[in-house]
Amino acid sequence: MTSNNLISRRVSNIPTSAIHEMTRLSAKIESPAFLSWAKPTADTPEHIKNAACEAIKKGLVGGYSTNAGLLELREAIVEKLKRDNNIEADPSEILVTIGAIEGLSAAVMALVDPGDEVIIPSPNYSTHSQQVIIASGVPVFVPIIEENGFQLDINGIRKAITKKTKAILFCTPNNPTGAVFEEKELRELAEIAIENNLAVITDEAYEYFTFDDTKHFSIVSIPGMKERTVSCFTFTKTYAMTGWRIGYAVSSTKIIEQMKKAHIPFAICAPVTSQYAALAALQGSQDCVKEFRQKYLSMRDLMCKRLDELPTIFEYQKPMGSYLMFPKILLKEGSDSKSFCKKLLQEARVSTTPGIAFGPTGESHLRMSFCVPKETINTAFDRIKDYFLKK
Ligand SMILES: Cc1ncc(COP(=O)(O)O)c(C=O)c1O
Repeated sequence: MTSNNLISRRVSNIPTSAIHEMTRLSAKIESPAFLSWAKPTADTPEHIKNAACEAIKKGLVGGYSTNAGLLELREAIVEKLKRDNNIEADPSEILVTIGAIEGLSAAVMALVDPGDEVIIPSPNYSTHSQQVIIASGVPVFVPIIEENGFQLDINGIRKAITKKTKAILFCTPNNPTGAVFEEKELRELAEIAIENNLAVITDEAYEYFTFDDTKHFSIVSIPGMKERTVSCFTFTKTYAMTGWRIGYAVSSTKIIEQMKKAHIPFAICAPVTSQYAALAALQGSQDCVKEFRQKYLSMRDLMCKRLDELPTIFEYQKPMGSYLMFPKILLKEGSDSKSFCKKLLQEARVSTTPGIAFGPTGESHLRMSFCVPKETINTAFDRIKDYFLKK
């Protein structure tokens, strides 16, 4: 028996991550300009770190919390959801999770049976399709409309529904495209979900990072949608808390109770130190969030300006949210985004992520993060310009 035979089909069916491959390859390159990760580069604000230290010193973190998360944290989350997302919830409708990722996994495990189809507007954050595959579900990719700023194709979604469709899973503001799905379309999507008795699972990790006049809208705020929706949020992006691994999901008590059954065998509870840090994040000043947003906005504008100054290599939709953009490669050699990105890394020392990592409709694109210092963007684009001018 080869070692492969020991591995479950669920897991062996998951392709290896192109993001991790680019990270591995980047480690072999001398000082690459690194635009590959969707990770805040700032450190967690001091008042949040201090609150965690206090909780440790007071002896509050040595045990498990209740499985759903500390009550005081869930109460603070309820207030935040009402204030910022127009979502009415009760603490019993909140599950504190290990980042948004574990909330999404628990939602998929609780809602998807083997063979169930899950519609994913694509290009998409690759983890979402992996989560469906782990649950032995079938991801069904519906292209989003690039020419329309990467917005949802509502008719395409309607047409993709079959007897096996169980759920629609999407992310807004979007990774990898930087689109923010419009309220009007999300309301139509809600109607489709109700008409066809579908669940909706959302990833709202970048909720605070929208630009210009664009506003984030939570589909679960529509009356009646909580009964069929799980919306996942996180502290990772909002407060630069990537490594704390803390987020939460909101849904009806009925769904949350079932999600808990998926949460307990994988996690028991979210890390307690991080729960105290999250509480301080919600109760403290929100100025840090405004500062992060302002920073990402100016980095978006810089990246767009540097793209505009290049000869005709890329075409892009201006991102209205997240801190990511997804330019289309206009050169013939760009139709294989993996080879294109490897070449860009090895010959121009710029690390990006190939579009194919975000589903088949991501091909011929690359993802660039503007959540990086100004100098990194300038170095990356100086190098890209030199590389293509020399060719
Ligand atoms: C769309 C999206 N969802 C979730 C995550 C991860 O969130 P968390 O750290 O809360 O698990 C990321 C991280 O890059 C992301 O881009």
